[in-house]
Parts: sequence; C-alpha cells; structure tokens
Amino acid sequence: MTNASNKRLLKSLSGEMTDRPPFWLMRQAGRYLPEYRETRAKAGNFLDLCYNPALAEEVTLQPLRRYGMDAAILFADILLIPHALGQPLAYREGEGPVLDPVRSIAGLKSLGLTKIHDTLSPVYETVARLSQSIPKDCTLIGFAGAPWTVATYMVEGKGSKDYAHIKHWAYNDPAGFGHLMDLLVEATTDYLLRQVAAGAEVIQIFDTWAGVLPDDEFRKWSIEPTKRIVEGLRTQHPDLPVIGFPKGVGANIIEFVRETGVTAVSLDTGTPLDWASKVLQPVLPVQGNLDPMLLVTGGAAMERRVADILRILGKKPFIFNLGHGIVPQTPPENVARLAQLICGE
Ligand code: CP3
Repeated sequence: MTNASNKRLLKSLSGEMTDRPPFWLMRQAGRYLPEYRETRAKAGNFLDLCYNPALAEEVTLQPLRRYGMDAAILFADILLIPHALGQPLAYREGEGPVLDPVRSIAGLKSLGLTKIHDTLSPVYETVARLSQSIPKDCTLIGFAGAPWTVATYMVEGKGSKDYAHIKHWAYNDPAGFGHLMDLLVEATTDYLLRQVAAGAEVIQIFDTWAGVLPDDEFRKWSIEPTKRIVEGLRTQHPDLPVIGFPKGVGANIIEFVRETGVTAVSLDTGTPLDWASKVLQPVLPVQGNLDPMLLVTGGAAMERRVADILRILGKKPFIFNLGHGIVPQTPPENVARLAQLICGE
C-alpha cells in the first residue's frame, strides 16, 4: 500500500522510497542553539519548559526553521513519566537529572497512575499545538523512554556508570522489579496513546541503556516491555508507526526487531553499515547513525562518513539521523552543512 501523504518520513516508514532520505536529529532542539538557550532562560528551569506548551512548542520549531528537518519531535523528556508517577525529580546544572531513588517494592508505594494525566496534560497540549503549527510536509514524532531506561534513572537516582542498584534488584528479585516495569508499561502506553490522540503521527521509544544487559535479561527487561507497549498502542491504532531505539545491543537488535513489532529501528553509531544493509534493511526501514561527535568535528571527516551512510543505507527505505543525541558543543553551522549534504542543495 502506498502512503498517500507527501511526508517523506511517513513514506519511508511504510517502506516506500523517496526523492531523498528523510532526516531529523535526536535532541534536535537543545543547548547547541542560542535561541533554545534564550527560551530556556525565559522558562526558568528545564521542567518548567517541558510543562509550558507555548515555550515547548517554540523550542520544537526552532531547529525546523533553521534546517528544515522532515520531522518535529515533541519537546519533553523521558523522565516526565516518573515525575508524573509521583517521584521527585530535579535537573541540576552540569549534573543532569536527580531523583529520590526507588529500590524496593516498599518504595513503589509512593508511586501511582491516578494523577499522571493531570501532570502530563501540558505535554498533550504541546502536541496539539504542534500538529497545527509544523510545516505540511513535516511529520510530528511523539516519544517516551522504554521502561528499562526510565527505570535506570528511577532506581539509580541519576545517570549511572555501572547500573549496580537496578541490576541487583532485577537479577535478585525479578518479581518485585517486575512490578515497577509493569507500572511503567502501563503509564507509558497510556501516555503515548494520549500523544497520538493529540496529533503525534509516529512514536519513538528510546531504550538508551538497553545495551548494559546480558541477552537473557535484555529479552526480559527491554524486548518484553517494549513489545507490550507496541501491542497496547496497536490495539487502538493498528497502523501506527513506531521506531525502536535499543542502543548498544549489537546483534541482539535482530531479536528486538523480530519480537517487538516495531516499524523501524534506530541504529547506534557502532552498528556496521554493511551489516545493517544486509541483515536489517531487508526486514524493515532503519534510522541512523552518524556519530554526534562527527557533527561537532564537521569538515571532511563528517562529509566522508555522511557520504558512506547515504551510499550504503540509502538504497532502501532509510531515515538519516545520528547514532545518539546532539551534544551541546555542536556548531550550528555543521548542522546546516549536514542538511545540505542530505538534501543536495
Ligand atoms: O530530541 C529532542 O529534541 C526532543 C527532546 C528530548 C529531550 N530529552 C530534551 C532534553 C528527548 C527526546 C529526550 C530524551 C531523553 N532524555 C533520553 C533518551 C535519549 C538519549 O539522549 O539518550 C534520556 C536518557 C533523557 C534523560 C535526560 N534528560 C538526561 C540524562 C538529561 C541530562 C543530560 C543533558 O543533556 O543535559 C536530560 C536533560 C534534557 N532533555 C535536555 C534536553 C534538551 C537538556 C536540559 C537543558 O536544557 O539543560
């Protein structure tokens, strides 16, 4: 079936070829843009920005004005779910997110689903505004973190190097840890359904820390919860495109693709291009995977790699993106050059 819309991203996701690959960049709204820093200062702190529909809409649109990406990604954060479940959360300058850690069944008692939409309703309003304000050929992406990745922050209380607390809980008491994962599956499914109801056309599920798990635990805590979320979304929206991003999982991505029901997968920077073109692209569209540091470096090094990615992955449905989010020190002019290289202007 052909996709009747003129949106490149939707066409690629339905397996069609387009005049050029669609492109967007993970974390395309953010601190590398002076206009983002200005709006962020106006909002106060980062959470206030996420919960302010007019300002969140504005920062979502900023990169599109400069670079004309084929997709807008809702401006929010994966940690709004724990916040809405009742877990205290703050973003500290230079330190990242800090939460009061939950490390046992007893800790789960303070969390609950009853009020999540009260907290999250500004996000749905941002989506609704964006569905009216983005360019006609641009696709609106909603998103959430996968339960495992969100749980790493909930249990560790911040970013982690060794994931000691969450692994200990998951390995030692899988039934208890399973309750936290069940809560996250339910909250996340509900949250994403509301985003779709408000106008999100594609959903991306970020499993940034999936790669720290051995394969049996990866199956249990990344594949299974993601599959349940995709099934929950598809009961109401059978054709909804969902992009999975199980970062750092190597060859385990094959099983992720086979089991979860995602429409496309986002590839991290370490995924070999030839392998992806032979093993993954015959099965589904892929997205990725320029090293965000090459976007910082720019010049010939970036241009060579962009050409390789386009040559090797561009023969089948493919969405140009990074292998992880843009970093704050990225020169905006390098992003402009990247857009030129992809769009051939
Ligand atoms: O892509 C976009 O433009 C949409 C917005 C978006 C943000 N975070 C905004 C943000 C998205 C899709 C995310 C996802 C996210 N958030 C992930 C998964 C993807 C990834 O990057 O791995 C994760 C793990 C988080 C959690 C998170 N949020 C961390 C660890 C941090 C601190 C690190 C940092 O970059 O500051 C954040 C903060 C955050 N989320 C910022 C932005 C623009 C920076 C906050 C600021 O303005 O100071």
